[in-house]
Amino acid sequence: MSKAKMILNKDYVIGEVDKRIYGSFIEHLGRAVYGGIYEPGHPTADKYGFRQDVAAMIKELQVPIVRYPGGNFVSGYNWEDGVGPVDKRPKRTELAWMTTETNEVGTNEFFTWAKEVGTEVMMAVNLGTRGADAARNLLEYCNHSGGTYWSDLRKAHGYAQPHNIKTWCLGNEMDGPWQICAKTADEYGRLACETAKVMKWVDPTIELVACGSSNSAMPTFAQWEATVLEHTYEHVDYVSLHTYYGNRDNDTANFLARSMDMDAFIKSVIATCDYVKAKKRSKKKINLSFDEWNVWFHSNDADKKIERWSVAPHQLEDEYNFEDALLVGSMLITLLKNADRVKMACLAQLVNVIAPIMTENNGAAWKQTIYYPYLHASVFGRGTVLNPIVKSPLHDTKDFTDVPYIDATAVISDDKSEITVFAVNRNMEENITLDVELNGFGQFEVVEHIVLEHSDVKAVNTKSNPNNVVPDANGNAAIEDGNVKADLKKLSWNVIRLRKVK
Ligand code: AHR
Repeated sequence: MSKAKMILNKDYVIGEVDKRIYGSFIEHLGRAVYGGIYEPGHPTADKYGFRQDVAAMIKELQVPIVRYPGGNFVSGYNWEDGVGPVDKRPKRTELAWMTTETNEVGTNEFFTWAKEVGTEVMMAVNLGTRGADAARNLLEYCNHSGGTYWSDLRKAHGYAQPHNIKTWCLGNEMDGPWQICAKTADEYGRLACETAKVMKWVDPTIELVACGSSNSAMPTFAQWEATVLEHTYEHVDYVSLHTYYGNRDNDTANFLARSMDMDAFIKSVIATCDYVKAKKRSKKKINLSFDEWNVWFHSNDADKKIERWSVAPHQLEDEYNFEDALLVGSMLITLLKNADRVKMACLAQLVNVIAPIMTENNGAAWKQTIYYPYLHASVFGRGTVLNPIVKSPLHDTKDFTDVPYIDATAVISDDKSEITVFAVNRNMEENITLDVELNGFGQFEVVEHIVLEHSDVKAVNTKSNPNNVVPDANGNAAIEDGNVKADLKKLSWNVIRLRKVK
């Protein structure tokens, strides 16, 4: 059996995990809101109409922050349509996804839902059809305590206390030709700068995310980031990154290596931020918000057949298979490896729309394959990311060279009593033995070795077979001479949980 080695030292760390890297995203798109988190007639709906079967799964995931209301949707959204008496709210043509938006759910309802599931809201403002004025009014409506037009309107709408939303996105994917009112880097940079200024005047405690490129394949990447940051550097706190991968040519090895592209993307954006920092002689550091990431391609063809102006159609409903879960695991490992600069990230999205949770209208909810690596990282991956040396056999794929078969990282809890090793074995043919050398941590024991594996890379979970791909604590990790030895099954996601022996 091939071997890999991970060397951990208690003093070698990458940085603290900002729990917001386990964020997610709910857009007014397809059945994310209507039929996803909200369905008043559903047997599990609470008094607000929120599905409690879905809420329970989200609570289990411990999602710390959820981006809202878009996405492409936000670039045509009039936030005023979504507040006040529901029966007076207008139905609108929604030009990002060519559907009808009923506005039954808006800012206040979403905030109520977020409180219920124990998450924070990351609010995006419309810098497509609108600008600084609508953004500052929305912020005043949400965060001002009272005694002004917009804050008193919130109170009149039944929300006496301010929502105190801390994190705000200045638009969405403004470089994309598909975006409603897309902009050049200079146009967006100027608008983002002026919007940021007035928003921070309304509430200096907020944090702002400027739009980076829609993905690293955009022709203007990374000049876009450089230009936008030259305009906004002193007024914003983060720059956004988005990426989606697909296995369109059914090449599993190449697909599983895509997290290396994500890593290169992150490194390029860090370099661009620091280039602008140097140019400006600034003392400030811009961090990264990877606020859209996932696998997305399964639903592309079905989406072309959706009837225009439908209400909450089945849109972007990717059915995720086992190999998708492995890549999602590697993408989570990649975020952790860059925890010193990536402070927020959103698995896009959370329910029905390219999501870990699927529902049936008026029926069941179930967990897709990708739910599990997301769950494990969110629950066990909090504390400080260690900086391991990983020695793994390598291979080449169509687009990548020197791809390590073992993709791994480790996190130590704040009280230093638990270490969790996350590892993907990308090898399609062979199990690999991983030796984890523990230096300077004291004595540890294995709590459990969780494994997600399946003989069929295309296996999925469905309503009728929801437990087809589920993890099992059946790994064989054990302590030998103070170190950990584990067989990592071919094509598997592994979570090795270690606890300090008192
Ligand atoms: O998450 C789906 C869409 O992907 C978002 O609306 C957009 O920002 C991105 O292109």
